[in-house]
Amino acid sequence: MHNDNLHATQDKGPHDEGPREWISVDLPDPLIDGQAKEVMIRGRVIALFRQEGNLFAMDGMCAHQGGPIAEGVVEHGCVTCPWHGWQYELATGIQTINRQPLQETFQVRENDGLVEILI
Ligand code: FES
Repeated sequence: MHNDNLHATQDKGPHDEGPREWISVDLPDPLIDGQAKEVMIRGRVIALFRQEGNLFAMDGMCAHQGGPIAEGVVEHGCVTCPWHGWQYELATGIQTINRQPLQETFQVRENDGLVEILI
């Protein structure tokens, strides 16, 4: 007889930290079009972008080695990390070379002029 339960484990991903909720972002100045800002929300670094009127939010630390994503150059809907050039789609977090969703993204909305992120 053998025991099939010996290897039972809980498989929780690094970002499985419970239910998400909308959190308002405390911005000292409005985020203008073409601009990006790094903010701290619930202890996480988040890169916030406004491009052609749309808001985007993604993990502010690059999946490669933690580079500051909010300081990257944005072109054609993608941000390029300033440290080693990895590039991610703003809307999906997909890395443009290997097409994998390496950078976590978050839903973001504007409510009465207040930016809110689902995190
Ligand atoms: S840390 Fe972003 S490309 Fe290396």
